[in-house]
Amino acid sequence: MPTQAVYEKEYVRKTKKSREHFMKAKKLLPAGVESNVRFFEPYPFYVKRAKGAYIYDLDDNRIIDYALGYGPMLLGHNHPEVVRAVKEQVGKGTMYGASPDLAIEYVKMVQKAMPSVEMFRFANSGTEATMHPMRVARSYTGKEKIAKAEGAYHGGHDYALQGVDIPEAMMKDSRNQPTVPFGSGIPKCISDLVVLYPFNDWGATEDVITKNADDLAAVIIEPIQAGGGCFIPRDNYLKKLRKLTTELGIVLIFDEVLTGFRVAFGGVQEKFDVKPDITCIAKVAGGGYQLAGFGGKRDIMEEIVPKVDGNVYHGGTYNAHPVSVAGGLRTLQILSKPGIYKKIDKIGDSLFHGLKEVAEDRGVNVWVESLGSLGQMYFTDKEVSRWRDAIDVDREKWRHWFMHSLGRGVFFGVPHADEHFFTSLAHSEKDIAYSLEVSDEAFKAIAKG
Ligand SMILES: Cc1ncc(COP(=O)(O)O)c(C=O)c1O
Repeated sequence: MPTQAVYEKEYVRKTKKSREHFMKAKKLLPAGVESNVRFFEPYPFYVKRAKGAYIYDLDDNRIIDYALGYGPMLLGHNHPEVVRAVKEQVGKGTMYGASPDLAIEYVKMVQKAMPSVEMFRFANSGTEATMHPMRVARSYTGKEKIAKAEGAYHGGHDYALQGVDIPEAMMKDSRNQPTVPFGSGIPKCISDLVVLYPFNDWGATEDVITKNADDLAAVIIEPIQAGGGCFIPRDNYLKKLRKLTTELGIVLIFDEVLTGFRVAFGGVQEKFDVKPDITCIAKVAGGGYQLAGFGGKRDIMEEIVPKVDGNVYHGGTYNAHPVSVAGGLRTLQILSKPGIYKKIDKIGDSLFHGLKEVAEDRGVNVWVESLGSLGQMYFTDKEVSRWRDAIDVDREKWRHWFMHSLGRGVFFGVPHADEHFFTSLAHSEKDIAYSLEVSDEAFKAIAKG
């Protein structure tokens, strides 16, 4: 283990059982975790239960949770109405193979939120929800390439794992950025089929897309880019992208896996009034159960309908799993009630705006980029609106704040400086006030250097 930083000491002191568990877990699970993102130094904590805004670790520490299952738990953990719906469904059988009756009701709810979704297909993860529509777009357009934003994350399949991170030595001008695979084991020929554009830099985006238009089946975009942090679209970026892709006959895919039902009931497309051709959803859409899917224009989605002369394959044993549909449907029913996003956004604003104020009061330079319940704090003295702006932010200060807060019982989200964190409906004013107090302690120490 690396030398212990002072700001980690409280975490280590309070998580002895997690440390012991990690020693056992790493013999059985690579890095001692089930998803690489869950690992962080010196070792991750392990959870035995969760309720509302809190998770409880093996050492019985109560932790205010701003990771929220990496996004899904917008209502907080174990919302009683969602638990009831799930239990009811478990009593009726958990797996049918044939389609569950609730699926239609679920799709109608998605359409209510996102009228751009004329037809919908279920999947089980955000990874599947972005993988399938890329294939559908290729079939629909007869073209092969996909454009994605630098730094954006669209899941763990080979087409998505491109340009997620770009090593400094490989970094070029963003109009001519070569596509670099993220991690090893990805065939080189896949990188050749993906082109990279820079989110929020319209001039370069337009250039890349126009240059590649003859080969591009789809442009996929996280309309608030949360891959690499949190970047809110500026200067009508999304509307310009909509116009250009329509003119060039390129399918526009909104990956709203993380933003859908979070920044508004209808996701970013509602908030910024832009209609994509296809939308991918997951996370909040399942309310904590494995539910995902994609949907959009009827003529594009009908590429999937079995035909004699060929169609796009889409399947999955667990698609529209009855328990997930029950949990997801109840979650969306709750979220569809009037006034709920006003409350959600108010809680988010008090945390994100509060962090900026507290840091500034201590003379620590931060840029907080947020919209309602989603955001990130960067330790920097400049504006961060694009993925490249975040490359040279101070990660050591971020780590100091993150680990100090965790030691004091506040989990500020996905445990890496290039991620983001969330609030939920379950966070109270008291939770926010305590989180700001703990952050203030970290800022004070950071200011002292
Ligand atoms: C925008 C986005 N797309 C896709 C995915 C992949 O989702 P999953 O982890 O459910 O496969 C994620 C996951 O974090 C995501 O944030």
